[in-house]
Amino acid sequence: MSMVISSVLPAPCSLLMATLMLLIVQAQSFTRHYNFNVQMANVTRLCATKSIVTVNGEYPGPALVAREGDRVAVRVTNHVATT
Ligand SMILES: *[C@@H]1O[C@H](CO)[C@@H](O)[C@H](O)[C@H]1NC(C)=O
Repeated sequence: MSMVISSVLPAPCSLLMATLMLLIVQAQSFTRHYNFNVQMANVTRLCATKSIVTVNGEYPGPALVAREGDRVAVRVTNHVATT
């Protein structure tokens, strides 16, 4: 990509392009917030229902989606009482 730009545009122009592209890439990375509520839930697997520790009532827990450079903030709240 940079080879193509430098061969077509004069050097100061390609530097500007590279800076702009860097700014665009940085603008696209952001913080992704997730809430994980760790709780007991009845989950049915292979026709058997049992109460297990889940994340937001799901087992396995939800997928986290992030791109390179993103920040991922996960707020975990444990609702499972240990007795
Ligand atoms: C799971 O099911 C049992 C029986 O129906 C119920 O008593 C219990 O409260 C349920 N647990 C949860 C976490 O929903």
